[in-house]
Amino acid sequence: MFQVPLPEKYQQLGRDEAVDRIAQCQQQLGDRMVILGHHYQRDEIIQFADFTGDSLKLSQIAAQQKNAEFIVFCGVHFMAESADILAEPYQKVLLPHMDAGCGLAEMADIGQVEQCWHYLQQNLPHPEKLVPVTYVNSTAAIKAFCGNHGGLCCTSSNCRVIFEALWKNDPETVILFLPDQHLGRNIAYKMGKKLDRMALWKPQKPNGSLSPEQIKNADIVLWDGFCCIHQEFSVEQIKSARAKNPQVKVIVHPECSFEVAQAADYLGSTEQIIKTVGAAKPGSRWLVGTERRLVERLARKMMVENIHVELLTDTRCICKTMNLIDLEHLAWLMDNLRQHCQDPEAVPLVNQVSVDEDPKRYAKVALDKMLDITASTK
Ligand code: 13P
Repeated sequence: MFQVPLPEKYQQLGRDEAVDRIAQCQQQLGDRMVILGHHYQRDEIIQFADFTGDSLKLSQIAAQQKNAEFIVFCGVHFMAESADILAEPYQKVLLPHMDAGCGLAEMADIGQVEQCWHYLQQNLPHPEKLVPVTYVNSTAAIKAFCGNHGGLCCTSSNCRVIFEALWKNDPETVILFLPDQHLGRNIAYKMGKKLDRMALWKPQKPNGSLSPEQIKNADIVLWDGFCCIHQEFSVEQIKSARAKNPQVKVIVHPECSFEVAQAADYLGSTEQIIKTVGAAKPGSRWLVGTERRLVERLARKMMVENIHVELLTDTRCICKTMNLIDLEHLAWLMDNLRQHCQDPEAVPLVNQVSVDEDPKRYAKVALDKMLDITASTK
């Protein structure tokens, strides 16, 4: 799937015109459409979102939107896929830019995962205790693999809840965690698992570069995937900020490296970061380790309460694919949607994200299980 070039007239649209068009379409379509915006989206997009959130909150909201015929997902491809998997058959999910993928999600390929699974099963003393868990930043095929093998999904905000449920049910469970090594390691460590009982599976290497002995000793096998944006944060940045101001608080996303997560004061998903800083004391100063758009928006909001918020790094730190969704693409998508609603035969929908029936069935098992466990712990 790829993005068709924007028609000339949308490339030339001024900001004001694009804003007017989107607002008009939103008004005309009313309850037939809902716009969801992930926290990493540009401000110009967030202003139109009916709901904003992290990936857990947005998947819960997507699953509740039974009245909306159209779900416009301003986020990345795996998020729109999850919304489609959870949607009713009469609902359609649209992504304003088809090239808005996620590098991390693409680091686990289904063929590689099947090979890994086979090798782990051969080398574990109790192969039936192996459970696959995938971060939602993964393809529908990987989610389906997990759903079909007794496993499930998690997000950065409920990863601990999911691990707790599995290890409480059977402390000898061995988790195969896909595809973000850092999230799996950071959360398992917080729960008391030892680093020397975590094995790193390198998909490019024969047998993942793991010996049968390492596999036998593992509580969790971590896939060697990572997010490029969260690799930009370092312990040196935290040390140097604390040297200048020992009072500063540091909060980072669990996709950051183990060393950074250990050096920080708090760890949290995008929604948890916003909540924690939102509840901070006036006069406090915060350094945040996640994508720039979220941090800048939070900094502006918190300034009013005399809470100072800054990005932990001085690099650009913008998620390139989230950034592809801009006013021009949203205006183009919304115009198309409005015309489609007037005459569905004459105007086909653009940018629909539709997961094939085959992966959908078991991917839904994996997502539903995650949502059920999360709801039961509230
Ligand atoms: P959240 O689950 O915190 O929204 O994170 C999603 C993501 O892709 C972070 O890089």
